[in-house]
Amino acid sequence: MRSAIFTEVIEVYEDPDRASHRVAELIVATAQQATAARGRFDIALSGGETPRTLYSLLATEFRARIPWHKTHVFWVDERCVPPDHVESNYRMVRETLLDHVPIPPANIHRMRGEEEPERAAREYESLLRDHFGDAAPRFSFVSLGMGADGHTASLFPESPALDEKERLVVAVYVEKLRAHRLTLTPKAINSAARIVFLVFGREKAEALRIAFDETSDPRRAPTKLIRPHAGELRWIVDRAAMPNNS
Ligand code: 6PG
Repeated sequence: MRSAIFTEVIEVYEDPDRASHRVAELIVATAQQATAARGRFDIALSGGETPRTLYSLLATEFRARIPWHKTHVFWVDERCVPPDHVESNYRMVRETLLDHVPIPPANIHRMRGEEEPERAAREYESLLRDHFGDAAPRFSFVSLGMGADGHTASLFPESPALDEKERLVVAVYVEKLRAHRLTLTPKAINSAARIVFLVFGREKAEALRIAFDETSDPRRAPTKLIRPHAGELRWIVDRAAMPNNS
């Protein structure tokens, strides 16, 4: 049952490059609105492969259109590895984006994947509370992906994290990856002004079908728990990822 009032939009693009350009345009527009309204732009970024092109575009073609000094970067999730590890989401965003733009180091708020997971989750929650105040964080923009198994951020199907109603950040153990991760909870994500899912490739089509199926169980399709309380939810998808695309 969907109770939140929000706008949901689905846009389909011919290929990942066009889709990534679209998201870059949305980020620029949101950054301009947020800095005009509140003097700063708070964006939470995901890891994985899908957003690499997007981050590179922000570092090049779109670089001059973002007020980097007023931009604060957060992560939606992190693998529990050191920041220079090849699997680190921080490292991926740093290499594709942050190393190439004039963002003040104090505006980069990474999750500390090298620490004991539970402690790192609690520290990130206090960092969010310091930045946003005691209310749930109101990110200007949250960029999310979706795995072929339907997970988003590190909210995996059947995970206890899906039931978390109080905390903003939790540590999870992902059995099939045999790995610990840190993730924002739906509570932390759903207060955002704009949330964008970026989904590419045929291997995501079945998960997308389940995500869009009104009758599917959110425990199987955690993206269904992402419902902004007062904001916009947008799916930017390439044609290959669309269900029934032959
Ligand atoms: C991560 C992510 C995760 C990601 C999906 C999709 O740390 O892996 O933040 O939620 O968005 O797994 O990943 P791909 O883009 O690699 O398919």
